[in-house]
Amino acid sequence: MEFAIAPPPPRVTADDLLNVAERAAAMLRLIRDSMVQPEPHKKHPPIFTSNKVQAICGIDKTKFNTLLKSGKLPEGQQESKGKMRKFTLAETIQWVEATVKPLKRRKKQKGKIFTVGNFKGGVTKTTTGMNLAQGLVMRRGRRVLYIDLDPQGSSTVLYGINPNAEIESHQTVLPIIERDKKTGEPLQPNLLYAPMKTYWDNLDLIPASSDLFNAEFMLPAQVHQNDATFKFWQVLREALEPLLDEYDYVVIDTAPTLSYLTINALFAADSMVVPIVPDILSYSSMVQFWGLFSELVTGMKSFSKDGETKSYDSVEVLISRMPNKPGAQIVNDFIRKTYGSYVTAVEIPETDLARTASNEFKTVYDISDYAGSPEAYRRIREPYDRLVDLIDDRTCRFWAAEELEAA
Ligand SMILES: Nc1ncnc2c1ncn2[C@@H]1O[C@H](COP(=O)(O)OP(=O)(O)OP(=O)(O)O)[C@@H](O)[C@H]1O
Ligand SMILES: [Mg+2]
Repeated sequence: MEFAIAPPPPRVTADDLLNVAERAAAMLRLIRDSMVQPEPHKKHPPIFTSNKVQAICGIDKTKFNTLLKSGKLPEGQQESKGKMRKFTLAETIQWVEATVKPLKRRKKQKGKIFTVGNFKGGVTKTTTGMNLAQGLVMRRGRRVLYIDLDPQGSSTVLYGINPNAEIESHQTVLPIIERDKKTGEPLQPNLLYAPMKTYWDNLDLIPASSDLFNAEFMLPAQVHQNDATFKFWQVLREALEPLLDEYDYVVIDTAPTLSYLTINALFAADSMVVPIVPDILSYSSMVQFWGLFSELVTGMKSFSKDGETKSYDSVEVLISRMPNKPGAQIVNDFIRKTYGSYVTAVEIPETDLARTASNEFKTVYDISDYAGSPEAYRRIREPYDRLVDLIDDRTCRFWAAEELEAA
């Protein structure tokens, strides 16, 4: 008797997988290019109207006009007399420096490193890191270095760069990890070679590519080869040291895994930002994150010869993508009970606008002219503004205290 069953489909071979990978890469290039038209490689910072400059600077129209008349600040562009003035990001930064007057980091003081981390995927690490970096430049006139340490390269994509097609391993952090086969020395002694300019003034980037995965076998191999003084978890921090004279902030985006690179980012940080989405799976995954994170920080003490323990200026548990639903509020309460004072005073709501923006390779701060309701834009923009200000205000307190100590 014969069964009328169709034969099974063909097996999936390695070549098939390769084909899919190539098709996917080509597709991403197409999508990205159509999103960031007309110039696929160049994204542009937003244009700021006089109203927006006034809002960022916290000044009213009268004060704005007085300052404008003084002739000491950029006048922006005006299509014709009586029309709204428009300012570039660089011009807006000059207005911020003159009006907000953020405390300046003194010459001998170092910039601060903020690592955004959580081993759970999709909890808005990249979104948070991007907004923080852009906001610190735009609202406080800071110089910021962004390091994409996630081999997925999501942040690199948000800068308008295709990590797989356009970035080679020597442009990433890899040369501080990879060793010369003959001399056994790292290919680069520090990261001074790496920062590249981006479309956002005063915000430089060290991009990622999938080559970063190589760090995951290079670092453990070096642990075996080197003498006991080799601190595999300090490689990034030490390589960043000379850059901290130049930048006020370094923001590091990490992969959702406990990798050797992520460990380096946790140990490089002066401050941690740990975004969490209030659902029960993220909550339980966070419990695991804290277990591993605390074990790592205490565990490295026994590894290191001088017995130093890592400490942080601050650790922020940022409730993010908070839905307007009762279930989420219950988890939100758990988070607050568990993490107490570490929970950031700002909460980022879940909004369609934020989701749509990232689907267009944009952040909330990239949006120049939102076509939808101003209220929808304000709902997501305002919490990010507060987050940026809160973080910069606190950093200023650290810089001020360090100055007092040094005096
Ligand atoms: N406030 C928000 N409201 C709605 N969606 C959001 C919001 N913020 C971020 N998202 C969406 O959440 C998704 C995950 O964000 P993101 O890529 O920043 O997370 P991640 O933690 O970096 O992910 P991964 O672990 O893969 O690196 C993205 O699709 C983004 O569009
Ligand atoms: Mg990410």
